[in-house]
Amino acid sequence: MSGPESPKPADADIDTQKQLDYWNSVDATPNGMLGGFEHISRIDIQGSKNFFGKLKLDRTPPMRIADCGAGIGRITKHFLAKINNQVVIDIVEPVKKFTDEIESPENFKEEKEAGKIGQIFNVGLKDWTPEKGAYWMIWNQWCVGHLTDAALVEYFKRCAEGIQEGGVIVVKENISNCPDDVYDELDSSVTRTDHKFRALFKDAGLKVIKTEVQRGLPSSLFQVRSYALRPQ
Ligand SMILES: C[S@@+](CC[C@H](N)C(=O)[O-])C[C@H]1O[C@@H](n2cnc3c(N)ncnc32)[C@H](O)[C@@H]1O
Repeated sequence: MSGPESPKPADADIDTQKQLDYWNSVDATPNGMLGGFEHISRIDIQGSKNFFGKLKLDRTPPMRIADCGAGIGRITKHFLAKINNQVVIDIVEPVKKFTDEIESPENFKEEKEAGKIGQIFNVGLKDWTPEKGAYWMIWNQWCVGHLTDAALVEYFKRCAEGIQEGGVIVVKENISNCPDDVYDELDSSVTRTDHKFRALFKDAGLKVIKTEVQRGLPSSLFQVRSYALRPQ
């Protein structure tokens, strides 16, 4: 006789092909990136600028940044490229039709002329290893839900090795409003609790140096929280 079965973890059904199928079916537009909530982009970007400002990072070049799960480069364009003239932003994004938007000669002209767009890595986070000690900041927004808990811990460990002295890893994500993580069938992702995020950071040897809830979002949406992280 078997005992009571433990419930299936929320990340058990994560399926990379399903994720790619979903994102390849989405328009390469700001509205596509934000699931029909394009109007929150301005608030999100302002919140990110405020959060980043409070980190008071040293601004000695080189200031290499990775925009992870970058989509069509919404964050790169409106926030990261505006930090100053020294930044060079690498793009990590598995969906080629999104990075094609960034590579198109029509788009990101100013940023390219200023040398702010670096390398483009067409891979998911599970398959990306940042160059050791290379990054001033690794920005991960609305994408880490595509990794299982175990894959995410391994990814965070690689990020810890990828940041330079004084660098930072930022994770800005939806937070589950349920007692547990929630699986989303649509894009095969997991929305994690704050508690779970903190446990995964700890498992990866990261400490939270600052965290903040994004203000001004519609109450119908998940809470969005930013975490700035460094190796313990
Ligand atoms: C909600 S959009 C957010 C895009 C961008 N971070 C932004 O805020 O505008 C999610 C992005 O994650 C990408 N994505 C899907 N699976 C991924 C994976 N395994 N690793 C990294 N990014 C992934 C999608 O292609 C999509 O561009």
